[in-house]
Amino acid sequence: MDCWQQTHAARENPASVDQTSSYPGKLLLLKETRMSAEIIDGKAIAKEIQAEIKTLVANFVDETNCKPVLAAVLVGDDPASQVYVRNKERACKRVGIESQLHRMSADSTTEDVLQKVVSLNTNPEVNGILVQLPLPPEVDEQLVLDAVNPDKDVDAFHPTNVGLISQGRPRYLPCTPHGIVQMLFRSGVQTTGKRVCVIGRSDIVGKPMAMMLAQKNCALGSAMANATVTLCHSRTQGLAEIASSCDILIAAIGKPNFVTAEMIKPGAVVIDVGINRTEDGLVGDVDFEAASEVASKITPVPGGVGPLTVTMLLSNTLAAAQYQTEHSFGASAV
Ligand code: GUN
Repeated sequence: MDCWQQTHAARENPASVDQTSSYPGKLLLLKETRMSAEIIDGKAIAKEIQAEIKTLVANFVDETNCKPVLAAVLVGDDPASQVYVRNKERACKRVGIESQLHRMSADSTTEDVLQKVVSLNTNPEVNGILVQLPLPPEVDEQLVLDAVNPDKDVDAFHPTNVGLISQGRPRYLPCTPHGIVQMLFRSGVQTTGKRVCVIGRSDIVGKPMAMMLAQKNCALGSAMANATVTLCHSRTQGLAEIASSCDILIAAIGKPNFVTAEMIKPGAVVIDVGINRTEDGLVGDVDFEAASEVASKITPVPGGVGPLTVTMLLSNTLAAAQYQTEHSFGASAV
């Protein structure tokens, strides 16, 4: 038994702990053998990938004399969205991608936003289009997302791209799930044959995540696919039991501290996608302190999945520019 297994065994069954060492410091011994999970450093991994993307962007510019261009559409004044969009702009700049921000007022209609999307679809200078979510409630989100040209759909939200992912032949991968696969890969965690529990069935994270990990293969090789995935959600019965039987747990349910230590298999890898604003500040979907004592690896919030989401958007924008150049449209002259 290694340290975290020992710790868990002690909690489940105190009799399993070595009783021969009956000196007064036994409790202290237990405390010392309780090992904290290794932190998966999202910021460091994102930095590493962004350096790789920067090189690839420079090569692309050399070859084509064009810079990849990402256009973000921001409707209204949602403070969190403003922060996300600003982070995306900064990240673009770091790797040599040109970014455009199209601000629209909070009282924009569905028709207004559709017109904006159509103008970006037909603008050959624009390679990638991102409509920042959430849109104001009066705007029909589905209509707007469906209007984005699938070739410029760097979020991979369009039904064409979702269909291609489900068939195992993706053109673009959705940014957060792709970032998670990269994090696992670069932390030495394989998914093949593993049991994975995804908590949350959103179109942005949960559903595509489950779909990607269940495929036979992916760009990083079959070791980063082939998982046996259980997609849990708010109506799942016996969620804790399912979760605690899984080797990898991905929490994307949007509820602060939803995942407790009891839901985690000893030694499991825990990925926390949640970003919940509470009185205590930013909190993930996982009770980090408690989970760290059971998991072998865990992502923090902030500084975990978030930086990877932005990074994979850069990767998709470059991929879009490459795709459009090969199909002779898009990419702006330097
Ligand atoms: N809002 C929160 N996450 C996302 C995302 O991944 N893409 C877009 N477009 N909006 C978001």
